[in-house]
Amino acid sequence: MDSQREMSRSKRTRSMIAFSVCSWAFVLPTCVKLQATDENPTLSVPAAVETTTVTPTPVDTSVSDSTITKKDRSHFMGSRACLDCHRSEYVSWLGTQHYMNSKKNRFEGTKSSIDTKYRKEVGNLKLCYTCHMAPAEQRFGRTQVETGVSCESCHGAAGGEDGWLNRHAVYGPNITKLEYETPQHHAERNAACDAAGMVRAGRPYEVAKNCFGCHIIAEPTLVGEDVKHPVSFDRFSLIPYMQGEIRHNFHLNQRANAETPTLETLRRGLSLQQRKRVYLIIEQFAKAEVALNHLVALPDDKAMEDDLAGNMIDLFDDAASELEDFFDELEEPEDEDIPGLSEEELAPIQALLDIFEDFDDLDEPTRADAAKAAKNVAEAAAAFLTLHDGSKLKALDEAFLEDQGDPVGKVLAP
Ligand code: HEC
Ligand code: HEC
Ligand code: HEC
Ligand code: HEC
Repeated sequence: MDSQREMSRSKRTRSMIAFSVCSWAFVLPTCVKLQATDENPTLSVPAAVETTTVTPTPVDTSVSDSTITKKDRSHFMGSRACLDCHRSEYVSWLGTQHYMNSKKNRFEGTKSSIDTKYRKEVGNLKLCYTCHMAPAEQRFGRTQVETGVSCESCHGAAGGEDGWLNRHAVYGPNITKLEYETPQHHAERNAACDAAGMVRAGRPYEVAKNCFGCHIIAEPTLVGEDVKHPVSFDRFSLIPYMQGEIRHNFHLNQRANAETPTLETLRRGLSLQQRKRVYLIIEQFAKAEVALNHLVALPDDKAMEDDLAGNMIDLFDDAASELEDFFDELEEPEDEDIPGLSEEELAPIQALLDIFEDFDDLDEPTRADAAKAAKNVAEAAAAFLTLHDGSKLKALDEAFLEDQGDPVGKVLAP
């Protein structure tokens, strides 16, 4: 009870602070007030997760039902709601392209800029904001918008009555300290946060899908000849993209952005290397599912023959061939000291390969075929995560993890 009151008091204080900061938007440029025009982004769902909403039958497994979609954008609190407790994360985020996105002015309105060309086709820029901005709070009847990709673009909208913000850092009644949290409370806390749509390190498949939600760009008008927005998926690669400027691991030391396992990984007794191995595999499942969901979202089955659909099918193909290489190495590791995985342990990867083969065999795949494949991919990913915590995937280290490429951007610290 007490702790609840405490929490809501600090929340009120925070929004007061947020308000005063907002009135000085030029001092702290995270906060931008958009004019109330027809472009004012009254957006429904972030594009980051839009792709997951098109699967007709959501898969009922804890790792794949992206509950983030259940929260509408009015539940975004804005990054200042995190500042009090996550100062180091906040400060390092200020140095990322995700934040600076705003400063570079992606909506410059010159004759040849992407925004001008797109506006000519569609009439407004609503779509751009789903990836390039994040809504913050609703104040005075206006949506306050944060520029850039914000904390909640990646971790899920935090606010609302049963939102995760108020649950995720409460260890028990009466301001229970971390050391005294019971395992049962911890499990319930995680479950409540997941139900509220929190994307956290304990759900690597959600984390990966969320990145691809923005980094696989496949909206026909946007990437078409006339507008030519870059597609991003030709460059994006999860591990190097996660280990550079976006890394924010401060739980051990608030000043050092250490390359450590996350808090969650440490709790489960896993190593950083184990987490990386899991991400290496899960990335391919996530890529496949998001690409398939773009096929599902096509306007009609005829569009399955267009170049754009071809690109998405290529991504699926690409995911399958990466996984095939991983499969071979895991089945018979080059290093003879490492035992090969059993058929059962390899089953989820085999499942993806089969899903791809079935899809590839179709003469004229439809959107329904893509939806079915997407659902199966999500199930295979869930099965993979149930079986594997990375401890048996050592064969991937030398063969693949070592040449994942340099981290993208400089590691940042306050
Ligand atoms: C009242 C302080 C407080 C506020 C405000 C707060 N956090 Fe946290 N957060 C914490 C604490 C404490 C933890 C560690 C929880 C634990 O021990 O599991 C944490 C953990 C997290 C984690 C890691 C969870 C995991 O299991 O890996 C994420 C992600 C996170 N917070 C994001 C945010 C974001 C985004 C915001 C703003 C919308 C925010 N937090 C606001 C205190 C806070
Ligand atoms: C699905 C998410 C998404 C949408 C929608 C989107 N963008 Fe982007 N945009 C991105 C990503 C991701 C990048 C970074 C590409 C990269 O570097 O890999 C980007 C990059 C850009 C760039 C930099 C291009 C360059 O060559 O460096 C501009 C300008 C831009 N976007 C403008 C827009 C405009 C204007 C709209 C709306 C018409 C829009 N974007 C819609 C995700 C999106
Ligand atoms: C580009 C997406 C992205 C943005 C933006 C982002 N995060 Fe994260 N966050 C992640 C990822 C990815 C992880 C680590 C997941 C993993 O390694 O398994 C993470 C981890 C965390 C953790 C847990 C770290 C640990 O060591 O356990 C906290 C706390 C956190 N983020 C808070 C924030 C806050 C606060 C903001 C805004 C200032 C923010 N994040 C912005 C993607 C993001
Ligand atoms: C809400 C949409 C969105 C999400 C979610 C998202 N990104 Fe981005 N990301 C962007 C946009 C837009 C840009 C381009 C910024 C610009 O140039 O204006 C970008 C740029 C980046 C860059 C800088 C690339 C460069 O060339 O310097 C990195 C690194 C990155 N993203 C990593 C990630 C990772 C890792 C995740 C998932 C943990 C993620 N992003 C999730 C939208 C997103």
